[in-house]
Amino acid sequence: MHNEKIKEIESELKSIFEGSIDQKRLEELKVEYMGKNGKITVLNSLIKDVPNEEKKEFGMKVNELKNTFNTKYEEIKERLEEELINEKLESEAIDVTLPGTNILSGSAHPIERIIESLENLLMSMGYDVVEGPEVEKDLYNFELLNLPKGHPARDAQDTFYIKGDEYLLRSQTSPVQVREMLKGEGKEPIRIICPGKTYRRDEDDATHSHEFTQMEGLLVDKNITLGDLKGTFEEIAKMLFGKGRSTRFRPSYYPFTEPSVEMDISCFNCNGKGCNICKGTGWITVGGAGMVNPIVLRNCGYDPDKWNGFAFGFGIERLAMLKYGVEDIRVFYMNHDVRMLKEFDRREY
Ligand code: DAH
Repeated sequence: MHNEKIKEIESELKSIFEGSIDQKRLEELKVEYMGKNGKITVLNSLIKDVPNEEKKEFGMKVNELKNTFNTKYEEIKERLEEELINEKLESEAIDVTLPGTNILSGSAHPIERIIESLENLLMSMGYDVVEGPEVEKDLYNFELLNLPKGHPARDAQDTFYIKGDEYLLRSQTSPVQVREMLKGEGKEPIRIICPGKTYRRDEDDATHSHEFTQMEGLLVDKNITLGDLKGTFEEIAKMLFGKGRSTRFRPSYYPFTEPSVEMDISCFNCNGKGCNICKGTGWITVGGAGMVNPIVLRNCGYDPDKWNGFAFGFGIERLAMLKYGVEDIRVFYMNHDVRMLKEFDRREY
């Protein structure tokens, strides 16, 4: 009677396996026959009712049944997988004779390019790149830089204040100087550049933007001279505008430097003869700089009798406009036309 049970399952499976079976049905069969309560599994529990002398044979037959099922299962499974792969290969076949599709690649923004080339040059001269917050304290943006409240030079930087007059959107990257000097605690020499966004309440037009980019440089050490600043500026000018550029300093005024200068380069367009880019002067102003004012050094914990240094600041948009011949600053922000970026892609850095 037990053997009959085995025979019954045997012939049941035989006819099942003769029919067509898909992946889903195959897994169902596995549960149906080999699962916890599967038809083959439960045969094991019948063994206790089998007369002793038949137990061995019965056990062997159950095992045989299991093996037959498993072999069949594996065989079908393998065949189905193979069929699946073949189907996939057929449907995903690549026609290598078809023309390729153009892949649109991104490109670096001109502002980013100028920053990157300045960083590369100045890092090779031993400067570290540091960043500061765009929401800044009045204390760092103005006060400690020798621009106390009511100082007339504040007018030149019409500022976005945030709730009262303690916090603002930084109007220049110079507050990062203050932060680094405070960190140095009057003990460490400093050599840093800080690129970043700056904000002023300017009406947007072809040459003004309420949001723009600056890069600040600060070097504090011992026995630094204006000559060191000039040499550094010369390297920058040549890297950005070509080996043939001459540079000059013009006296200027910034509260945080003394003396202060405007940094000019000889016009790359007319080579100094005078044209509309240099407004007939032969020179183009590209940044401000000077020797760090002793008042600022002291404000930030450096003893001006022991330490001195220089600082400089560039407007990155201005450099990019000059370098790439862009006449409207808004071109850099209105990303509605990617052809603009592509245009810069074709140029040398
Ligand atoms: N912060 C100045 C500005 O926004 C630029 C500048 C001038 C920075 C002279 C300096 C400097 O560090 O020494 O107009």
